[in-house]
Amino acid sequence: MYFCNMAKTKTTYFCQNCGYQSSKWLGKCPECGEWDTFVEEIVSKADDKKHGVKKGERKAVPVAIGEISVQKEERIDCRSVELNRVLGGGLVPGSVVLIGGEPGIGKSTLLLQAALGMTGKRLLYVSGEESRQQIKMRADRIGGKNEQCYILNETFTTDIFKQIEILQPEVLIVDSIQTLYTDTLDSSPGSISQIRETAAELMRFAKSTQVPVFLIGHITKEGSLAGPKVLEHMVDTVLHFEGDQHYGFRILRSVKNRFGSTSELGIFEMQSGGLREVSNPSEILLSQREESASGVSIAAMIEGQRAMLIETQALVTPAAYGNPQRSATGFDLRRMNMLLAILEKRSGFKLGNKDVFLNIAGGIRVDDPAIDLAVLAAILSSLEDIALSLRVCFSAEVGLSGEIRAVGHIENRILEAEKLGFEQIIISKFSMKGLDVNRYKIKITAVSKIEEMITELFG
Ligand code: TYD
Ligand code: MG
Repeated sequence: MYFCNMAKTKTTYFCQNCGYQSSKWLGKCPECGEWDTFVEEIVSKADDKKHGVKKGERKAVPVAIGEISVQKEERIDCRSVELNRVLGGGLVPGSVVLIGGEPGIGKSTLLLQAALGMTGKRLLYVSGEESRQQIKMRADRIGGKNEQCYILNETFTTDIFKQIEILQPEVLIVDSIQTLYTDTLDSSPGSISQIRETAAELMRFAKSTQVPVFLIGHITKEGSLAGPKVLEHMVDTVLHFEGDQHYGFRILRSVKNRFGSTSELGIFEMQSGGLREVSNPSEILLSQREESASGVSIAAMIEGQRAMLIETQALVTPAAYGNPQRSATGFDLRRMNMLLAILEKRSGFKLGNKDVFLNIAGGIRVDDPAIDLAVLAAILSSLEDIALSLRVCFSAEVGLSGEIRAVGHIENRILEAEKLGFEQIIISKFSMKGLDVNRYKIKITAVSKIEEMITELFG
């Protein structure tokens, strides 16, 4: 612990929205553009010095990279395939993991469930958000049993560290970082400097004891972590827990990870008894239907490292009220408009007087350009009112001149489609290079222009 130097205090103004720091008060934040968000906070002078190297302290010396030995770091099993995956293969001892997400998305549930599942480990769940009884009720709903899961209602870090000293937990969970405060600063809990300082204390604790720490952080309406960006820079791993309020699906995304890939993704479903792990995402992303309908097509996409099949739905109708409406859910609207323009220009379909609505099933947001072709197919299918076979899927990007472009990891996509019983996949001709078609049972059709796809689909 360190104590504040009584003599001198320094104040700084922080934007409470994004954490921008300024030496004077500002009406509008130059970083995030919000008005009236600056609050004066006391930053102790003594704090600034602790980062400097004192006389007599051991200094670092350069070492040839070949001589640095690394032990394979062991990982703690969180007993959740999805959580382990997003962490890059389990929890690294001494690491600090920040989990951000909107209120009510399920952050507390996710971590309490992990805590209850990690039997044999002593865990401390520090909550400044909910009472012991509330947490117990939630635990009963989830229904895991870990005799060594301890709950502490405390927000003052000095007292938390005292309890940690006594309990000696092997994993620490803090819900949430915005409720903590330290007496080395005068500002109120949740203020930028408090968040930064309490997080720094927890970082030092994790690094000095090798106890991993999970921090829960709230996200503002704009989607950024409430609190300074520096929080994201400080911790080892930042995960975002997101999902659509109207669907039960939750996606855990790695935004930063010092110990693994950031392209990992975990998928859960919120049920009455807690979060269920979804090991086969296609099961939720393909809506269950018996017969085909027009305007529906299926794309083989990749999120993170995982291939999955997802349903795209389009509705194209004559615009009844003047200006045609265009809307897209789960897909970039500008990209949809671009695809519509390509369709008009390259294949002569008239869409200027049509309303076009596009929806990605399951309420998830897709960034993979490989779903372009499926989006086009869904739009054409609705426009012509011809249903496509539900045993056919698509995986290719569409370029501005109507060319069908190759996408990465085509083998994974084909294998996933085959595994799920699809009979045909339509891909780009340029994806065929080096592809051993005989390896697959599924029929692979390669096209290089929109016109070829139209002929393939509608004859
Ligand atoms: P919570 O973990 O409290 O969210 P956060 O910590 O991110 O604010 O989850 C809140 C929602 O999850 C709440 O609306 C109820 C729902 N829920 C279930 O549907 N089933 C459950 O078993 C649990 C524990 C919560
Ligand atoms: Mg919570």
